[in-house]
Amino acid sequence: MGHRVYISADKIKTKVKELAAELEKFIGDDEAVLIANLKGSVVFFADIIREIKSERIMLDFLSTESYVNNESSGAVKITRDLSLEISGKKVVLIEDILDTGLTLDHIIRYIRDIHEPSQMKVCVLLDKPQNRKIELEADFVGFTIENEFVIGYGLDNNEYSRNLPYIAVLKQ
Ligand code: IMP
Ligand code: MG
Repeated sequence: MGHRVYISADKIKTKVKELAAELEKFIGDDEAVLIANLKGSVVFFADIIREIKSERIMLDFLSTESYVNNESSGAVKITRDLSLEISGKKVVLIEDILDTGLTLDHIIRYIRDIHEPSQMKVCVLLDKPQNRKIELEADFVGFTIENEFVIGYGLDNNEYSRNLPYIAVLKQ
C-alpha cells in the first residue's frame, strides 16, 4: 500500500537521544525496569534502551490487545504479563503511541495495582491528543501529531509495515 514519510528516520534518531537523556535523569543511579508494550513499541524500545547509559537497567515486556481492524474496541486485555519482580523499583513504561488513552490507562492501573513499583513514568514516541477518550498524558513525549493513522517504526497496519525505518501515513 502507498504511503508517504511523515517523520524521517533521522528525526526519530535525534528525538530518541533526547528522550533517553530525560529518562536517564529520572532513573539516576537507581535500579530501574524498562517495560515495552508489545508489539508496537519494540523498535522504539530497542533504540532507546541503547541510548541509556545506566548499568542498573532491566528489561521486561507485556502485551495487550485492544484494536480490531484499526478501530478501538474499547476493551483492553493483558495477554502477556511481566516476568520480573518490579515491586519497589522505578519503572518506565515505553509505548509507541498514545491515542485514545485506553490502552495506557489500563496498563498503568494494572502495573500500579498488581506489580507496585516505587515510581512509574510513561514515555511515548507519538501522541495524538485530538483522539483522546480518557484524560491521560505521558510524562515524556517524542512527537505530538495530527489525528492521522501512522505506520512504521513498529506501528502496524493490520500487522504489516512495522519494519519501516520511518513513520509514514497511508495514502488514500
Ligand atoms: P489507544 O488505546 O487508543 O491509546 O491506542 C494505543 C494503541 O493503538 C497503540 O499501542 C497502537 O498499537 C494502536 N494505535 C493507535 N493509533 C495508531 C496509529 O496511528 N497507527 C498504528 N497503531 C495505532
Ligand atoms: Mg497495533
